[in-house]
Amino acid sequence: SRNIRLAVIPGDGIGTEVVAEGLKVLEAVGTKIEPTHYDLGAARYHRTGETLPDSVLDELRGYDAILLGAIGDPSVPPGILERDLLLRLRFAFDHYVNLRPVKLFPGVATPLAGTPTENIDMIVVREGTEGLYAGTGGVMRRGTPHEIATQESLNTAHGVERVVRYAFEKAKSRPRRKLTLVHKTNVLTFAGDLWQRTVNRVAEEYPEVGTDYCHIDAASMFFVTQPERFDVVVTDNLFGDIITDLGAAIAGGIGLAASGNINPEGAAPSMFEPVHGSAPDIAGQGKADPTATILSVSMLLDHLGLHDEAARVERAVADDIAERGGSRSTSEIGDDITARVSG
Ligand code: IPM
Ligand code: MN
Repeated sequence: SRNIRLAVIPGDGIGTEVVAEGLKVLEAVGTKIEPTHYDLGAARYHRTGETLPDSVLDELRGYDAILLGAIGDPSVPPGILERDLLLRLRFAFDHYVNLRPVKLFPGVATPLAGTPTENIDMIVVREGTEGLYAGTGGVMRRGTPHEIATQESLNTAHGVERVVRYAFEKAKSRPRRKLTLVHKTNVLTFAGDLWQRTVNRVAEEYPEVGTDYCHIDAASMFFVTQPERFDVVVTDNLFGDIITDLGAAIAGGIGLAASGNINPEGAAPSMFEPVHGSAPDIAGQGKADPTATILSVSMLLDHLGLHDEAARVERAVADDIAERGGSRSTSEIGDDITARVSG
């Protein structure tokens, strides 16, 4: 079979450090993967003023998948790299599923004292191309005492239905077969109504999946007090952003949280990245935990149909986590997991 063509965007801060470890593991698992690095992020922006040139975007379209480290740097005003690079990739490649597992590995300390490991095992299906991230809205009388800023949530029947369908398929494939819609239907009456009606309608095609509903505020509480309520969670872009940081916290921290920005039809490459950011405060010190990136590599392999390889990487991570002792550097953790994958 031909080589898998992988575009690698290490990005900013710890992104470069964690991506290097992810690639080590990828190589050790024995896949025929051919990585090409792309220099995008704060350094390029300062050097050339470019965030994501159209020619690069076109080139990236031709890859089988993308591995991304982290985007964002305090030296660049907020929103530029996020909107014009990271979100542009998600939007241009129609990554309408932002898949974020929240799973507690045995041996990981959760702040939820006394919670059995198996009680935290869910997957959040975050919508990735619409909602408040769409960027609609505007500002009037900026800088005056009469300033009015609006920022609208865009929800289309097409956009909601496709992500809800994906979530039902996911739920169907999992032992507990439960889908929870998380929204705020009591206040966001237009968008919430569309989401709820869509879930109700699609649910008729999935009689084997139990459906539930939870407001975002209550869901935040239940993530902490009763995480076992959740199996597959489907939610909009911003609620999903927030709840998956909470999910990362209950499952052992942001250093372990993986994600995939998926284009399920394969019309464009899917992109895998740790949920954490560029962490400029610890960048360049070898302190970052590469585990989230390595788990994202496992998701990448799975997405490409390399299920055995994906499982081997996840097992290597689980074994590594189970035996964690003293503190290790970024590359020591990467080396230890790599050894388990090769061994
Ligand atoms: C994430 C990040 C991004 C988001 C930012 C950096 C734009 O927080 O991947 O969760 O809000 O989606
Ligand atoms: Mn986030």
